[in-house]
Amino acid sequence: MVDLLLGLQWGDEGKGKIVDVLTKEYDIIARFQGGPNAGHTLEFDGIKHVLHTIPSGIFHKNAINIVGNGVVIDPVIFKRELDNLGKFNIDFVSKLLISRKAHLILPTHRLLDAASEASKGKAKIGSTLKGIGPTYMDKTGRNGMRVGDLEFDDWKTKYRALADKHEAIIDFYNAEIEYNLAELEAEFCVGVEALKKLTFIDSEEYIFKAQAEGKKILAEGAQGSLLDIDFGTYPYVTSSNTTAAGACTGLGVAPNSIDRVIGIFKAYTTRVGSGPFPTELFDEDGATMGRVGNEFGATTGRPRRCGWLDLVALKYAVQINGVTELMMMKADVLSGFKTIKVCTAYDYKGKKIQHLPYSIESEYVTPVYTEMKGWAQDLTKMSSSADLPATLNDYIAFLEEQLQVPIKIVSVGPDRTQTIHR
Ligand code: IMP
Repeated sequence: MVDLLLGLQWGDEGKGKIVDVLTKEYDIIARFQGGPNAGHTLEFDGIKHVLHTIPSGIFHKNAINIVGNGVVIDPVIFKRELDNLGKFNIDFVSKLLISRKAHLILPTHRLLDAASEASKGKAKIGSTLKGIGPTYMDKTGRNGMRVGDLEFDDWKTKYRALADKHEAIIDFYNAEIEYNLAELEAEFCVGVEALKKLTFIDSEEYIFKAQAEGKKILAEGAQGSLLDIDFGTYPYVTSSNTTAAGACTGLGVAPNSIDRVIGIFKAYTTRVGSGPFPTELFDEDGATMGRVGNEFGATTGRPRRCGWLDLVALKYAVQINGVTELMMMKADVLSGFKTIKVCTAYDYKGKKIQHLPYSIESEYVTPVYTEMKGWAQDLTKMSSSADLPATLNDYIAFLEEQLQVPIKIVSVGPDRTQTIHR
């Protein structure tokens, strides 16, 4: 069977940490969508590691890590990640397998991303500019290059034809972006050589066999449900299916092979990039969440927008994904707030509703809050549920009652050890 681990908000919920905490239960960790737009942060032994494309199980001795067909890979960033792992003597050659069907991000995909964003003016998505959108466009447009192409001698011919086409489109945008394509291509080729040192597999077949052998598999999502290309806050979304169904298409896992669906959310909400965010705070409370929670993008370093927990959106994500258990992250960040607010309904065009409407832009939606008593205690050294303040336990009980799903883990700090199991 395959378990799923998914972010339920706008990404950055702390999936890297949880995969790391859960890894010892699994033989295989697989990524199924997204690319180097993701930034999964893990902290242990006093060192902070950020992974972009490589699954978070790579730091555990026994886990095999798979980059699935649904992922898009930039060989340049991938090589940097490998070099970094090399510094910590991680044996990635035997532990990291790549799907032949994963698509490649070309340097011109990154340029296209920049040109497209520049052309949007105020309507820009706030993309991480890693070439994600243009690469998925080539995938669905049936023009893309895949990892498996690198095993054939003519890959450079294929590359040239696609890159030339991209250059013509970049010209069309007429955007003021400067680049030296020869330099970018040289870097790309070095990245490709590094990638080719790894084992390429037919990951769907590999995972099918692993299941038949009784291996335990965890599919690790990137980004969050509200950035899903279909169910997120379109067009301010990423270009893949970040929800549970994405694991089926992004790994070749049949729906009836899915067992646990583990949903991760922060005790509050954050978002990077543009797009609607009903519970966003523009006051001192939002600034405190950002400061205490160290809310800066792991990939771009941009400050994240912060706000109260949006239960309407969270309930929607729980439904779409069929979440069977929840993990609440960063509870420690809320210590010190006298009152904690939770959005339990929207005022939508003058009517009170409790589901996610077509548009959650601020001109249509105003959040309706339920207020709860906060707690003052520092949670970061607490290690059992019994230690938690009563008002935090009330908060947890309220969320469980509203969502009808148990909260199994409460995270009280970035380190592996700061994790309370319930
Ligand atoms: P893109 O996928 O890089 O084009 O970015 C599209 C939108 O998704 C932007 O608002 C990004 O900030 C957001 N996004 C992409 N990846 C992540 C992530 O890993 N965490 C949070 N937001 C992300």
